[in-house]
Amino acid sequence: VQRITHQYVEEYLYQLLPERDPLLARLEAEAEAEGWPIVGPLVGRFLYLLVKSIRARRVLELGTAIGYSTIWLGRGLDSEGFITSIEVNHATAERARRNLREAGLDRVVRVIEGAAIDVVRRLKERFDLIFVDVDKETYPEILDPLVAMLNSGGILVADNCLWGGSVATDEKSPLTSALRRFNHLAMNNPLLEGIVLPIRDGLFIGLKK
Ligand SMILES: C[S@@+](CC[C@H](N)C(=O)[O-])C[C@H]1O[C@@H](n2cnc3c(N)ncnc32)[C@H](O)[C@@H]1O
Repeated sequence: VQRITHQYVEEYLYQLLPERDPLLARLEAEAEAEGWPIVGPLVGRFLYLLVKSIRARRVLELGTAIGYSTIWLGRGLDSEGFITSIEVNHATAERARRNLREAGLDRVVRVIEGAAIDVVRRLKERFDLIFVDVDKETYPEILDPLVAMLNSGGILVADNCLWGGSVATDEKSPLTSALRRFNHLAMNNPLLEGIVLPIRDGLFIGLKK
């Protein structure tokens, strides 16, 4: 991920964070070594605080990967909370399940395998918080179905909305265009009050009316 803030500012923000426990620290090291695009501890802590502050009971995550962000979300839940997380790759989903078991969250998280758009179409539940972190071309397409699944007062969060800052240039690549389109649609959705925050690679936060 390209930096959108000055490196020294970013380093300052990261060093302010409390130290992670051995599991999260191990997953951060694995992600670094193997190139997994995880949200990292700054966004992870933000997700944790969001879940906690709105007392989210039903959380939907799109893009489990190795379960790193899922663990942050899971740690923000109270005893009634539950997470549904969607991952398209079977081996990746299995690895996330192992990590979630190690985190003591296996009873609290269900990892569903499949393409987000298909799984979302089948889900009948409503959610208090939805976190989107799948392939970027899916973002504009999946926005309306996700907004429909949010409870009133629920929050939609989407990662990588600044895409290294490219959305603010005239770059026309498919991924940049998809994210620019998502930002426009999300910020103008009549059911959402939203903002894009320049945290790490940009986070969209939308509160459902
Ligand atoms: C950026 S990573 C997720 C990182 C994770 N949220 C974290 O921060 O720890 C994206 C993951 O979503 C999966 N994925 C990508 N496109 C998908 C789609 N359309 N539906 C479901 N999963 C998808 C990929 O296999 C990958 O594991």
